[in-house]
Amino acid sequence: TKIAVFASGSGSNFQAIQESVISGDLHAQVALVVTDKPGAFVVTRAKQFDIPVLELSPKQFNSKADYEEALVEELRALNVEWIVLAGYMRLVGDVLLSAYPNRIVNIHPSLLPSFPGKDAIGQAMEHGVKVTGVTVHFVDAGMDTGPIISQQAVEVVLNDREATEERIHAVEHDLYSKTLQSLFN
Ligand code: GRF
Repeated sequence: TKIAVFASGSGSNFQAIQESVISGDLHAQVALVVTDKPGAFVVTRAKQFDIPVLELSPKQFNSKADYEEALVEELRALNVEWIVLAGYMRLVGDVLLSAYPNRIVNIHPSLLPSFPGKDAIGQAMEHGVKVTGVTVHFVDAGMDTGPIISQQAVEVVLNDREATEERIHAVEHDLYSKTLQSLFN
């Protein structure tokens, strides 16, 4: 299964996915890494694995539709079948959604529908929940609203955001590859 990973930042989830591909646990090929933030750390990571990177700032385009058309052209040229969002900090628009119907997934660091949007871990700490978690879901036009595919709970470390975040990321790195493998079968 040929996939493209979309990321705006560090790319630790991209790396975990690629490591699962290499280990043989995930039967897929990351054909392309796409970033809307040229120079993001995910670019460095992708290059370390010799994976092609498309660094395209939406600001270079007149509209979101134009930006997404350019993405779709590249994705089609590489025969990409699935789009995997991993810290892609942007709502997906109609052009991508209709080019890849039910073939776009996202990972979010909370038990949705709690704490959608930015800084889900901060929101959970602020709210004082004792259990949060990770969700993998299909992407629709909303913010973290699509149908849920898998979830895993994570206990909050009291008053320790860093430790909580570490736990969440560890679960993300494990859950995403497993969920993708189950979708691709
Ligand atoms: C992850 O917590 C993911 O759930 C969220 O953004 C973060 C991306 O981290 N959507 P990374 O760039 O994969 O390290």
